[in-house]
Amino acid sequence: MTTKAETKTPRETVTLIDNSNGRTLELPLLPGTVGPKVMDIRPLYNDLGIFTYDPGYTSTGSCKSAITYIDGDNGILLHRGYPIEELAEHSDFLEVAYLILKGELPTAVQKTKFVGDITRHSMLNEQINFFFRGFRRDAHPMAVMCGVVGAMAAFYHDSTNIHDPHQRMIAGYRLIAKMPTVVSWAYKYSLGQPFMYPRNALSYSENFLHLMFATPCEEYKVNPVLARAMDRILILHADHEQNASTSTVRLAGSSGANPFACISAGIASLWGPAHGGANEAVLQMLTEIGTKARIPEYIGRAKDKNDPFRLMGFGHRVYKHYDPRAKIMQRTCHEVLDELGMKDDPLLDLALELEHIALNDDYFIERKLFPNVDFYSGIIFQAMGIPTQMFTSLFALARTVGWIAQWHEMLTDPDQKIGRPRQLYVGEPMRHYVPLDRRG
Ligand code: SDX
Repeated sequence: MTTKAETKTPRETVTLIDNSNGRTLELPLLPGTVGPKVMDIRPLYNDLGIFTYDPGYTSTGSCKSAITYIDGDNGILLHRGYPIEELAEHSDFLEVAYLILKGELPTAVQKTKFVGDITRHSMLNEQINFFFRGFRRDAHPMAVMCGVVGAMAAFYHDSTNIHDPHQRMIAGYRLIAKMPTVVSWAYKYSLGQPFMYPRNALSYSENFLHLMFATPCEEYKVNPVLARAMDRILILHADHEQNASTSTVRLAGSSGANPFACISAGIASLWGPAHGGANEAVLQMLTEIGTKARIPEYIGRAKDKNDPFRLMGFGHRVYKHYDPRAKIMQRTCHEVLDELGMKDDPLLDLALELEHIALNDDYFIERKLFPNVDFYSGIIFQAMGIPTQMFTSLFALARTVGWIAQWHEMLTDPDQKIGRPRQLYVGEPMRHYVPLDRRG
């Protein structure tokens, strides 16, 4: 894939000098369409015999990508060039999914076909029903998702050949289409309620609310305001550049693992409280804080290096400005709570006060810590009647679109090969075996 920038900019370079032996190496500087250039270090080890060292990859680009661009200093998020604010305002989740997957907004004909294809892949193989029954009723839904999504490879063999573009497309459609069914069945199973089946006449988000809250006993009417809010929340979570779970999917995919295994690995990575698990952790934190009077105590704990407590839903590796998704999420929070007659929700009140205090505290200002996408989502989900344990599953449902798009981009990039980082070895030098009877 040759990026637009590579075709027109003269060759710029960086020269490295190894002062321990005077050896030098000139490395190409590759420009992107926008954003920081990258220093192409591929010759580094062969030419200078040294590795780079970058735990957490704070300064390392792992790939070329044309899907999502984040300008963390200015709070900008683009999907295929379109600002997240415009997509959240004017688009819908499946249209954004099409854009992220295929690179362009669909025409009316393309959109109708794509929506129809996704709609008609939303049922799970009936045998998978029995997979859920192996879990305890109180199993964490992310554990269920890891298991069921990974096991889907055993049911959809005809879409596991990663070298066949048609099979890659079918696998992606199946995963995107079936995630609402998987997530809702994990929820229904935890309640001891019967599983609901997809309704093809409903939109993606309407169908998800139907799957989650309908029962066979009566007609369930989807609230259009809540369906629109859910659809916007899914848009906000669809993709986000090379975050931890997306990098996990790319690394798993680089070994040639099948798409279901790769997405299951992404779900596992997203589960962590520092990543997608933060929305669940925010609700737990707000519940623990309880009252505005206790906010200063928790702000103090967040600043105390001896206390592992962090302000969940605050801070971001890339955004050193307000996460644009958090602003849209806050607005959506007000819409949903107003619709549900909960505008005085104490949790929202507490969250707004916590945000106000933190944003005026030097510790957070100096470190450029702002609310991220996870700060408000849990308040909305709880107001909708979704239990805290399900929050990260909804994040995984939406992020499946980004994971599939990034996985596909990785497989079709000629530069890509199996991911295999090196290390700085700080262990013992070579030594020899000591028989048991001669050890101290
Ligand atoms: C997501 O990558 C993505 O794009 C992720 C995501 C996506 O869409 O995929 O955006 C989704 O994961 C959002 C982030 C959700 N996580 C949380 O809300 C958990 C709380 N946040 C922190 O754990 C933290 O901010 C991270 C993990 C998000 C980012 O951590 P970094 O980039 O490694 O930053 P850092 O730990 O080096 O922090 C820099 C400083 C440190 O203080 P000093 O050592 O400089 O004194 O800021 C402090 C940190 O202690 N800090 C916090 C803090 N976050 C950072 N202090 C208190 N509370 C916090 N939340």
